[in-house]
Amino acid sequence: MTAALTLLRPDDWHLHVRDGAALASVLPHSARQFARAIIMPNLRPPVTTVEQALAYRDRILAALPREGDGSDFEPLMTLYLTDNTPPAEMRRAREAGIVALKLYPQGATTNSDAGVSDLRKTYATLEAMQREGLLLLVHGEVTDPEVDLFDREAVFIERHLVPLRRDFPGLRIVFEHLTTREGVQYVRDADERLGATITPQHLLFNRNAIFQGGLRPHYYCLPVLKAEEHRRALVEIATSGHPRFFLGTDSAPHAAHLKESAAGHAGCYTAPMALELYATVFEAAGALDRLEAFASHYGPDFYGLPRNTGTVTLRREDWVIPDDYPFAESARIKPLAAGETLHWKLA
Ligand code: NCD
Ligand code: ZN
Repeated sequence: MTAALTLLRPDDWHLHVRDGAALASVLPHSARQFARAIIMPNLRPPVTTVEQALAYRDRILAALPREGDGSDFEPLMTLYLTDNTPPAEMRRAREAGIVALKLYPQGATTNSDAGVSDLRKTYATLEAMQREGLLLLVHGEVTDPEVDLFDREAVFIERHLVPLRRDFPGLRIVFEHLTTREGVQYVRDADERLGATITPQHLLFNRNAIFQGGLRPHYYCLPVLKAEEHRRALVEIATSGHPRFFLGTDSAPHAAHLKESAAGHAGCYTAPMALELYATVFEAAGALDRLEAFASHYGPDFYGLPRNTGTVTLRREDWVIPDDYPFAESARIKPLAAGETLHWKLA
């Protein structure tokens, strides 16, 4: 049995780190594992301008440990696409080192009120992004209340992604937090300009986890966990060595009291043990030898960025995921799968 696993230092291609005191509590967890992360712009108010993104970047850098593990973490900044994002801002965005824009259909998830109401309104901006080589990161769910919650990803593909890719054949798109068999098939059969991130929760759990032994809000995220056949499709593609599917945790911190409520917030907190969760999935699939490419090669390759240097090591060691961690000023945060035993630990 493998006792240790050394990987090229990985990146997280989808991460929420919030702001202020919350940022300070969660950032070190990601920075100790990942060299870089794509920082989601869904703050309140959202990060819509280059100035806001650069100021947010400075606050992230200021919240990093001064020295040692994680001090060299690099946040990769994104802008929140709205109906009114000026096309002219795209050139400045690229020059400022911003790598992508995030498309949230209006009302699809946490802090998405300012999201896009009609894709057509963004066409001039998408044109400019295509020209500048900025990526489009997509929350791929329709918000139509007529569509069942569990079908929203598949319907998004038909209604929005197919026409979008036809109209912008040169735009590189990441289908974020892919959750369905339909999504897997669509991305797999597409050309090299479409990639996808996959979270640990969608690889580890099906929707039963939300209801097992009582309603469990810490297993609730968006897109919501799906049925077992979908989880299997995700595991199969993630562990297959397909280069357009890569790691993106979607670690989405919310104070425990906001999730344990009558209208609990969506988001799973996985930053403290993200790599160990993925290792668990890959080991169960007999594909530990493919973890490094999924975690450390395919993401930068798709984004056109250099792979990292340096390594991280996972050791075979049992440990129990803590019940909670301190969060922001005086709150607590509960991680995904609290109380469960992991068999890998980041050294
Ligand atoms: C995210 C959040 O809390 O910001 N929540 C989630 O369930 N994933 C938003 C998102 O990525 O959809
Ligand atoms: Zn997210």
